[in-house]
Amino acid sequence: MDDAKEEIRARLPVEDVVGQYIELKRAGRSLKGRSPWGVDKTPSFMVSPEKGIWHDFSSNKGGDIFAFVMEVEGISFREALEKLAAQAGVELQRYGGGDQKLAEKKRRMKEILELSCKYYQFCLTKSEKAIEYAVQKRRMLKGTLEDFRIGYAPNVGKALVQFLTKRGYKPAEMEAAGVLNRFGGDLFRGRMMVPFIDTGGVIGYTARILGQGEPKYLNTPETLLFNKGRFVFGLVQAKEAIRQNGFVVIVEGNMDVISSHQAGVREAVATSGTAMTELHLKKISRLTPDVRLAYDGDAAGVKATERAIMMAGDLGVNLSVISDYHGAKDPDELIRKDPKLWQEAVQSYRPAVEWLLDKYEENLDLRSGVGKREYSDVALKILKFVNDPVERKHYEKMVARRLDCEVEDLLEKERRIKTFGDERKRLKKLELEATSDVLAGVRDSLQAIIIYGKVENVKGVELTEDKTKLAELEMIFETRYQGWEKSALEKEAAELLVRYKAEMNKQEVEQLMAELEDLEEQEGEAAEVKAAEILRRIMELKRK
Ligand code: UTP
Ligand code: MN
Repeated sequence: MDDAKEEIRARLPVEDVVGQYIELKRAGRSLKGRSPWGVDKTPSFMVSPEKGIWHDFSSNKGGDIFAFVMEVEGISFREALEKLAAQAGVELQRYGGGDQKLAEKKRRMKEILELSCKYYQFCLTKSEKAIEYAVQKRRMLKGTLEDFRIGYAPNVGKALVQFLTKRGYKPAEMEAAGVLNRFGGDLFRGRMMVPFIDTGGVIGYTARILGQGEPKYLNTPETLLFNKGRFVFGLVQAKEAIRQNGFVVIVEGNMDVISSHQAGVREAVATSGTAMTELHLKKISRLTPDVRLAYDGDAAGVKATERAIMMAGDLGVNLSVISDYHGAKDPDELIRKDPKLWQEAVQSYRPAVEWLLDKYEENLDLRSGVGKREYSDVALKILKFVNDPVERKHYEKMVARRLDCEVEDLLEKERRIKTFGDERKRLKKLELEATSDVLAGVRDSLQAIIIYGKVENVKGVELTEDKTKLAELEMIFETRYQGWEKSALEKEAAELLVRYKAEMNKQEVEQLMAELEDLEEQEGEAAEVKAAEILRRIMELKRK
């Protein structure tokens, strides 16, 4: 696999790969641009063509072309490798690798799904009933049918199986691809086929019954290719618009995504009928921090929004809620009324926390003592997840105002309900947030000074031997410390070392927190004693 990596690196200049995503300008021997993670005011993203390396000084990310594509697309190393191999015209098969059998199996599965998608698309053109449903009933235009590769599975027992058998695929392979039922026939029959498409092509389907019936949607089971906790419906089609316009809209239904795109709001995606997971949100938030939820205002929508808020803080996501549907059930229905209404709706959004606090208020009687207690229970629970202290204070004041009490009363209540377990969770979150990024940045600078500034008397820092990393460090040194006097470098190193130790200290705390978490699962006195011990050590570290 290393050979394949080298070959791809040799064929794809780093500035070309990065240049597909950001505008780069020459700056001496390097190129400069704006960080795709959007936190810099002046260009702080550097590319060194000579070294084949990039480094983003605003977010402390860096590495080679593979690392860049992984970060910017939010994909795994394997996916990045495949993507860049295709661009470079390098055949990965020829290089083998540890999991050749598995890779081969996946390749065949992909072929099956790709072929079946084409087959379903063809069947749509032949079925009047299906066309009537897709075009008249669902109002999909030709371009939309093509972009989303909509098809139709005929209502015949083994139509697809026969089609695939003729092309040399075995039942076991069809089964693995998730297109067979348990009797060896077609899983999908008489349904409109909506493929799940990711960067590598079709990985599964959601299939809607034409008209009424149960189940309304039938989905591909989890396979080697399709994992519903990871897959974001519409992301492939939406990526460009999200990056360009700097926001994303998360809707509930896959059909809402399709209608939204057709209505000109091409930033819409969905999580395919499952609750949003951290992986979903992580993937999405790599493209933009501006995430707008377009869930129903019902109880399920409130729960989903709560969950999203709990995940958003840690990911640096700016979460808001779109809620004005003009009485329509979902975006699809609103668009049917008038596409303009939906275009306006996605521009009129409110901070998710604020929206949620309003929902709580609607459902409780804030004039009664019990209502006030319940309201403060739920409000405090959610405010814990607002990481920014200033923002949090804003909401605390808002809640206090609504309850006709003081912020101090709320804080007092919070202190009282805080149990042992709550305290642990809160601590863990605080640590996780800060440590890893900062630590990586400080460690990079320190190593750069020690190695390329030849500052020797720094103890306790492990130096990397990785070639790619070394090239990145050299670039960091050239950008940040070129021309510094030795004494200045030594002073900088000493200061960085102090911070480095402090951050390491934090990281130890983090590890201890993880151990605590494990202990939580266990019962008995021994576990409790151990937990108390760890907690004491944590408190000690935090005082340092
Ligand atoms: P909805 O029933 O709200 O979807 O379910 P929808 O898009 O409005 O459906 P239409 O407009 O009647 O065609 C939301 C999501 O829940 C999942 C699907 O992913 C759907 O997009 N779902 C729903 C299923 O997986 N199975 C079902 O039977 C129903
Ligand atoms: Mn709908």
